[in-house]
Amino acid sequence: MRILFIADIFGAPGRRAVEQRLPELREQHGLDLVVANAENAADGVGVTSRIALKLFTSGVDVITLGNHAYRQKEVYPFLQSDERILRPANHPANAPGRGTAVVETADGTRAAVVNLIGQLYLDAARSPFEVAPELVAQARATADVVIVDFHAEATSEKMAMGRLLDGRVTAVIGTHTHIQTNDPTLLPGGTAYLTDAGMTGPHDSVIGVRTDLVLRRFQTGLPVRFEPAENDVRIEGALIECDAATGRATAVETFRVSVE
Ligand SMILES: [Fe+2]
Repeated sequence: MRILFIADIFGAPGRRAVEQRLPELREQHGLDLVVANAENAADGVGVTSRIALKLFTSGVDVITLGNHAYRQKEVYPFLQSDERILRPANHPANAPGRGTAVVETADGTRAAVVNLIGQLYLDAARSPFEVAPELVAQARATADVVIVDFHAEATSEKMAMGRLLDGRVTAVIGTHTHIQTNDPTLLPGGTAYLTDAGMTGPHDSVIGVRTDLVLRRFQTGLPVRFEPAENDVRIEGALIECDAATGRATAVETFRVSVE
């Protein structure tokens, strides 16, 4: 089966790109499952229920989040009620929402998605390395295919997670930095790995934000309200192929499509 992991959707330009292009990409690549990180979908921070529902309608099967999961209060009840949207599993257990989803693809394959957050510069309530083995074992008990979104800053953390879960999951895909890395790898145990999937949004920017605003903040140290940039919009991510019966990955490559 073929899985598209869509990298961090940033603001309206990123949302529009997915809404306009995903139906045709699903067809063109024969996609069975689409997972998208949407933690920057609402003007660069967080996501709302309306935005999430529009992404589902466009062909996203499961939405993952990250350190901005709770920036929009409106989404809290939706995180509780809709099983297709995830926040990191190692956030506090009392925070709204869940960290694992199981969906059924058109051909009847059960696929699980697990969302984890790293520890460097981010607020992980529990170590992702402590919770990951148990979480993926639970996911594997009900699904053959397991995709992990590891939302983390450090390359080392992401590579280590890929190695820890090698042979236990179909793919470990890194998110959060918004810069796509050139290391799609099939690990020895049959797990697809990519350090960072990149960003779905405006690349004429500083990781999605208008360059002038970022420079003003860095150059003056004053608070500056960030706004999404507009130009050079791309859909980025990872394209994964796997054996649906065993969950073993057979191919992984970076994905990048220019929009406009
Ligand atoms: Fe993030």
